[in-house]
Amino acid sequence: MPRVTFADVAKEGEFPAGTTLLSIAEKLDVRVSHVCGGDGACGTCRIEVVDGWDQLTPPTPDETYKELDPPYRLSCQARLLGNVIVKVAKIE
Ligand code: FES
Repeated sequence: MPRVTFADVAKEGEFPAGTTLLSIAEKLDVRVSHVCGGDGACGTCRIEVVDGWDQLTPPTPDETYKELDPPYRLSCQARLLGNVIVKVAKIE
């Protein structure tokens, strides 16, 4: 199973392909804002991809509409394909 590492909080685990990064963060007890509950609407669930950009499903229309550029993804939209290393993005 693919491995996900949250580098900034030193938490990691293995999860089935297709799982969203937001639900993985919740399972690992990593705090990621998700004001809209994972609908792709609020943009608060942003994460920074440190390694493994191509090991996530491609950006969804909700992400491209928000002009979210690499290395950032919406964790409620990005689904796991392989091993990734991420950080919780600071929202300014
Ligand atoms: S939780 Fe709102 S966009 Fe991801």
